[in-house]
Amino acid sequence: MLGEAPGIWVESGFQDMSSKRSAPAKAGLRVGVIGAGVMGSNHARVLAGLPGITLVGVVDPSHAHRTRATELAGCESFETLDQLLAAGVDAVTVAAPTHLHHEIALACIASKVHVLVEKPIASSVEEGREIVAAAHAAGVTLMVGHVERFNPAVAAIKQAIKGEDILSIAITRVGPFPPRMSNVGVVIDLAVHDIDLIRWFTESDIVEVQPQLSSAVAEREDIALLQFRTASGVLAHINTNWLTPFKARSVTVATRGKYVMGDLLTRQVTECFGFKPDGSYSMRHLPVGHDEPLRAELISFLNAVRHGEIPAVTGDEGVASLEIATRCLEAPAKPAASSSARKTPRRVAG
Ligand SMILES: NC(=O)c1ccc[n+]([C@@H]2O[C@H](COP(=O)([O-])OP(=O)(O)OC[C@H]3O[C@@H](n4cnc5c(N)ncnc54)[C@H](O)[C@@H]3O)[C@@H](O)[C@H]2O)c1
Repeated sequence: MLGEAPGIWVESGFQDMSSKRSAPAKAGLRVGVIGAGVMGSNHARVLAGLPGITLVGVVDPSHAHRTRATELAGCESFETLDQLLAAGVDAVTVAAPTHLHHEIALACIASKVHVLVEKPIASSVEEGREIVAAAHAAGVTLMVGHVERFNPAVAAIKQAIKGEDILSIAITRVGPFPPRMSNVGVVIDLAVHDIDLIRWFTESDIVEVQPQLSSAVAEREDIALLQFRTASGVLAHINTNWLTPFKARSVTVATRGKYVMGDLLTRQVTECFGFKPDGSYSMRHLPVGHDEPLRAELISFLNAVRHGEIPAVTGDEGVASLEIATRCLEAPAKPAASSSARKTPRRVAG
């Protein structure tokens, strides 16, 4: 079973059986961050403030990024992964570019190090499966960083629909182009968050995929309207793009008894309920927590490592969401990228 840790958690920290790692008596888990870009710097900042762990350091080939991260987190830095592994870590978070997740995760797992890998789990479903299989064989914890599950507004929606008969889900995740153009489009970069949420809300697999994609400005798709049907019969829709001048993230869930609306940025969640035959209904705002999602995610990962529990987002779940995202890109509705690119593109920010 995934998530089983190859060691024991004692009061003094995680005691591994491998001779390579040290588990100092008072320092608790020894943790490293691989990739000190936008996301990795945040991992390092949050980890530096968590009790019960030692942030051993960050790894990044870029001197400038190492410097920024060490100033932010007050930790050591390493130019290579081997140097971090030699320093001795129990767990790492992988926030390097997605195309390196496979190679980095496999190297860490081979050293019996527990891994949280940023979303998407890997560049391809095959690579994702290899990471899952390796973690399983090595008996290390593998979690995927679908951080939106730890957004308090998302948690409030999940709580509100608990036990409800879900009928449909609509998610909007739009905004301007990212400052650095990555080598993936909106489906792999953004929609994969929402594919994970649809699977998590419904606790069901997506069995039908109807994508509409367009490349208005970028080489890869920058507009996606995705429709799904889950095995449980829920209809779901994702509207995502990089062509909206402001960020917006909203989720609505229709159940037989409720209509729940959440704004993931303002964290306001409202539900309509008590539908009457005359069309009237009641409405209320739901309580929403204040946790930083990344902090909650990292605490969840470290607890799974400590207690040898199944992590909140398993490698299998990460692969399943990537598989659906990949199917959206492979479906026949995808237009030929070059011929569909508009002749007079809108300005690309950054
Ligand atoms: N969960 C989320 O909401 C979220 C948000 C943004 C990004 N991400 C994911 O995080 C990952 C990183 O994204 P980012 O936006 O921080 O990218 P980024 O480009 O800002 O950072 C990547 C960093 O990795 C470094 N790097 C390159 N090769 C490396 C190697 N061999 N070993 C270690 N570091 C290496 C780069 O120098 C850079 O500093 C991606 O997988 C992305 O999908 C997740």
